[in-house]
Amino acid sequence: MTDVNTILAEADKALDQSLDRLFDLVRIPSISTDTAYKEDCRRAAERIVADLSGLGFSAALRDTPGHPMVVAHFEPKGATGKVPHFLFYGHYDVQPPDPLDKWMTPPFQPEKRTGKDGIVRLYGRGTADDKGQLMTFIEAMRAWITTTGTLPLKATILIEGEEESGSPSLIPFLKQNRGELSCDAAFVCDTNMWDEKTPAITTRLRGMVKDEITITGPRVDLHSGAYGGPAANPIRILSRLLSKLHDKNGKVTIPGFYEGVSDLPKEVKVQWQKLKFSDRKFLREVGLSVPAGEKGKGALEQVWARPTAEVNGIWGGYMGAGTKTVIPSQAHAKLTFRLVGKQKPEKILKAFRAFAKAEVPKDCRIDFAAYGSGSPASEIAGTSPLIRKSAKALKDEFGRDTALIGSGGSIPIVRYFKDILGMDSVLIGFGLNDDALHSPNEKYNLSSFHRGIRSWVRILAALAR
Ligand code: BES
Ligand code: MN
Repeated sequence: MTDVNTILAEADKALDQSLDRLFDLVRIPSISTDTAYKEDCRRAAERIVADLSGLGFSAALRDTPGHPMVVAHFEPKGATGKVPHFLFYGHYDVQPPDPLDKWMTPPFQPEKRTGKDGIVRLYGRGTADDKGQLMTFIEAMRAWITTTGTLPLKATILIEGEEESGSPSLIPFLKQNRGELSCDAAFVCDTNMWDEKTPAITTRLRGMVKDEITITGPRVDLHSGAYGGPAANPIRILSRLLSKLHDKNGKVTIPGFYEGVSDLPKEVKVQWQKLKFSDRKFLREVGLSVPAGEKGKGALEQVWARPTAEVNGIWGGYMGAGTKTVIPSQAHAKLTFRLVGKQKPEKILKAFRAFAKAEVPKDCRIDFAAYGSGSPASEIAGTSPLIRKSAKALKDEFGRDTALIGSGGSIPIVRYFKDILGMDSVLIGFGLNDDALHSPNEKYNLSSFHRGIRSWVRILAALAR
């Protein structure tokens, strides 16, 4: 068998070309939540299909009612006996880039820049979430194939195009392709390291459910002098409703909200304390200093193990230049709930809607947009042999123990791999907290990309053993 160092050397040598391929993918604005970018989503999928076909995968673009999936298979050459079969997952879709004026360089014109701190960063929407990450395993496979002519295991790659919009086509797709997609386990590359020097495997993800409300009061916008007082103002109704979502201790007040949420087990608390996380630094990095959220709970516990109700956007009434004395006809808000433990997304949505309706006077109306049923949280045991093997491979690359961490974000597919395909996931990614996911100036460190590729080279070797 080829020495893993030979393959690592190939990955190092090819880094510039790997980067070119990543930048070509980042140039395609595959924004899944905005229908104006439907063709771009398709182009991104086609590009990945072409790339994988060139590597010897049997790769195909697979249509869904939404954006297409990419599915590719690789049969190792000269394999004898039973070879392990793993699935590798990433997503080619990205979040909208706005506010555009906050970007130092255009979001879909990727750029490599060296900071004053000497760190080389790759800027562009999707460099970290998730194009840079999914390219780490593809480029690692390329290094294996270039060096040895094959991969040391059977690989299936699934690249989704709707992750950032809640994966509406995913459940039927997994159900229809159960046989083809069921593997020994899935490797999901869409999460973070602990810090730039310390690799991590994520064992908890929050679930999520979304809603959007529109409150309608008077039939049309009214003169606020002529009607101010007797006429209900939808913006005031909306603000009162939103302000009632949390009590003074930061707890969500929706009846039944905490059903299925358990307190953090003592041993987990102890394990997280050992990570020596600085809440102050965490807030300072985003320009804040006063801890918000649930009283008495630290930032890690809140982000990794507690549910939230957040308002993501609010609008209505006059928003142009200057002033306008008006009582608006409508007010709107977008909300998301992050879920943990056994919280059920459908139940949370129902409870929120009942809560919201009760706040609206009977001559006004409230409407809710349909954004699907959401997805529950995932918890993965940190003790499986696959996690141990992967943690060891990561340690070999970084020279440091691999941290087992949680994540506050959501990756709906992890739960569906388990529930629909009976397949466990191993979550390994090379992102950093300051990558500015979903924000302006998203970046991926060049070292994340490079060591990510090298890590997968090692993980593939370890999995084959
Ligand atoms: N990669 C993120 C999840 C993530 C965030 C992992 C931070 C680790 C750290 C993922 O692509 C994402 O953003 N998911 C969305 C899903 C949603 C739209 C259903 C999220 O969490 O908001
Ligand atoms: Mn992602």
